[in-house]
Amino acid sequence: MNNLSFNINDFAKFKQLKQQISMLTAYDYYSAQILEEAGINTILVGDSLGMVIQGNHDTIGVTLDEIVYHTKAVRNGARNTFVIADMPYLTYHTDTKDTIKNAGRLIIEGGANAVKVEINHLNTIKHIEALISAQIPVIGHIGLTPQSVNMFGGFKIQGKNEQQRKHILEIVKQLEHSGICSVVLECMPHQLAEEITQLLSIPTIGIGSGIFCDGQVLVFHDVFGFNQTTPKFVKKYMDANTLIKNAVRQYIADLQGMQPSINVSVN
Ligand code: KIV
Repeated sequence: MNNLSFNINDFAKFKQLKQQISMLTAYDYYSAQILEEAGINTILVGDSLGMVIQGNHDTIGVTLDEIVYHTKAVRNGARNTFVIADMPYLTYHTDTKDTIKNAGRLIIEGGANAVKVEINHLNTIKHIEALISAQIPVIGHIGLTPQSVNMFGGFKIQGKNEQQRKHILEIVKQLEHSGICSVVLECMPHQLAEEITQLLSIPTIGIGSGIFCDGQVLVFHDVFGFNQTTPKFVKKYMDANTLIKNAVRQYIADLQGMQPSINVSVN
């Protein structure tokens, strides 16, 4: 882990050099290995695993133990890549001591290099400051933060009206001040994402927020086409669903071809 191809200092360096930061999610050993071998900058063990691994409708039910488990697998597959583990719902909202303990598990047991925290309320900032003073690197996440789905009344683009825009800008300024190394901007108007990107000295990583960010993140199963339906902003780089289905059909056909012909011998 001392041999990271991209480390915490590279977030700022990439922004200065106007070099895009690449991030994809992964949840298991082989996917992580493939991403590392292909040269990805950072891997996110996202709580999106609640949807794409577990088949749930949202990320609310994902547990800390589950993120620890998947982070370990990803770390084993990608020993030289900067790995970020998501802090699940209610593991960083209530108490500062618990927040540090929970994030500590992701770093110590999971082997992550940083944690990602969704922020939709200024109250959360004090927990983030505590993490940073405990020497745990933090990536922020604002905009359509999926853990706030019940507060938003559904998965809705955030920052569309002036009140939401001001709220997001207020949070993001305080976040930068707290010492986070980067911030994910999810599903907000591209004009707002561009404004934030220009305002901050730390890099922004966009998802569904247009091209004017300092990097992009997407969900593994969306990008490689495991899902039949993906969000509109996702560019599919492969159609794994069809490829795997055809391979399974071929496997079944091969097995049928191997069936020994029935010998009816009459003695
Ligand atoms: O959980 C996740 O995968 C995420 C990304 C979509 C940013 O938070």
